[in-house]
Amino acid sequence: MKTVLITGCSRGLGRALVKHFQQKGWQVAATMRRPDAEQELHLLPHVRVYGMDVLDDASVRKTVSEAQRNCDGIDMVINNAGYGTFGPFEAASEEEIQHQFSTNLFGTMRVIRAVLPQFRARRRGVVVNIGSVGGMVTFPFYSLYHGTKFALEGFSESLQYELKPLGISVKLIQAGGVRTDFNGSSLALLAGEGLEEYQEARDKCLVAYRHNSSVHTPAESVAADIFEAVTDGTDRLRYILPQGGQTSQLLQMREAMSDEQFAETLWKSFMGS
Ligand SMILES: NC(=O)c1ccc[n+]([C@@H]2O[C@H](COP(=O)([O-])OP(=O)(O)OC[C@H]3O[C@@H](n4cnc5c(N)ncnc54)[C@H](OP(=O)(O)O)[C@@H]3O)[C@@H](O)[C@H]2O)c1
Repeated sequence: MKTVLITGCSRGLGRALVKHFQQKGWQVAATMRRPDAEQELHLLPHVRVYGMDVLDDASVRKTVSEAQRNCDGIDMVINNAGYGTFGPFEAASEEEIQHQFSTNLFGTMRVIRAVLPQFRARRRGVVVNIGSVGGMVTFPFYSLYHGTKFALEGFSESLQYELKPLGISVKLIQAGGVRTDFNGSSLALLAGEGLEEYQEARDKCLVAYRHNSSVHTPAESVAADIFEAVTDGTDRLRYILPQGGQTSQLLQMREAMSDEQFAETLWKSFMGS
């Protein structure tokens, strides 16, 4: 039986991934910040729930080694934990900037550093990073989030070179429009006090994001797509998921337009003019 360790399993895509891998006959190390609050996942056969805060290197190392011991090795790690910071960049404090990068980017790096010694010793393993369409195109007032996801693109792409000769593959999921709490309770809103000049545009964008979330694809369906992608046994790095819909239209538009045309069209669509 193969084992996958997944981060950020308390809800959303991470939780759906736990259930899908379990249904497909995998052993799952489901990690989350508050394992004591978990009511359901630990009742599923072959699922063990562990505490892990990706901001905390000691918690990452402890859980990775416990899971390796309990599961007789880890075959795949999925770096899913993440959130978005929304608002004018000028409003962000040093701490808010650090927190965003430390979760989405450095958290991923912490987990990969913890699993690599075992992957290298066994000369096999799959590293899956949950990136975003937001690592290819950008939206207004999400500069910090995009910064992390664009960085994840370059990091994942370069990492594949050095790991491939060791039998370890890297997969980057460029996710888009998944129905979760991402644009709701998970959004870290920057206060922006005293920055009225941004307010009207910022508010319009927030309304648009929240409105768009209603047409997003259910997390269960995206989890099934991700499972197929990361178990395809190939060296392919990038997967845009889910396919079709709004995401495909957006990427086609990006492809067809200059930087300036794209930025203007996107801005107008948010501002409603
Ligand atoms: N939803 C989308 O449309 C979409 C699109 C592209 C990419 N993604 C990516 O998909 C991933 C999952 O997001 P989601 O949509 O499922 O959002 P979500 O429902 O808000 O779930 C985010 C998960 O990350 C966890 N998390 C946050 N900070 C953490 C930390 N320091 N340590 C451990 N876990 C932490 C949360 O745990 P708590 O419950 O403890 O807060 C939660 O389980 C993210 O990387 C996101 O960037 C999502």
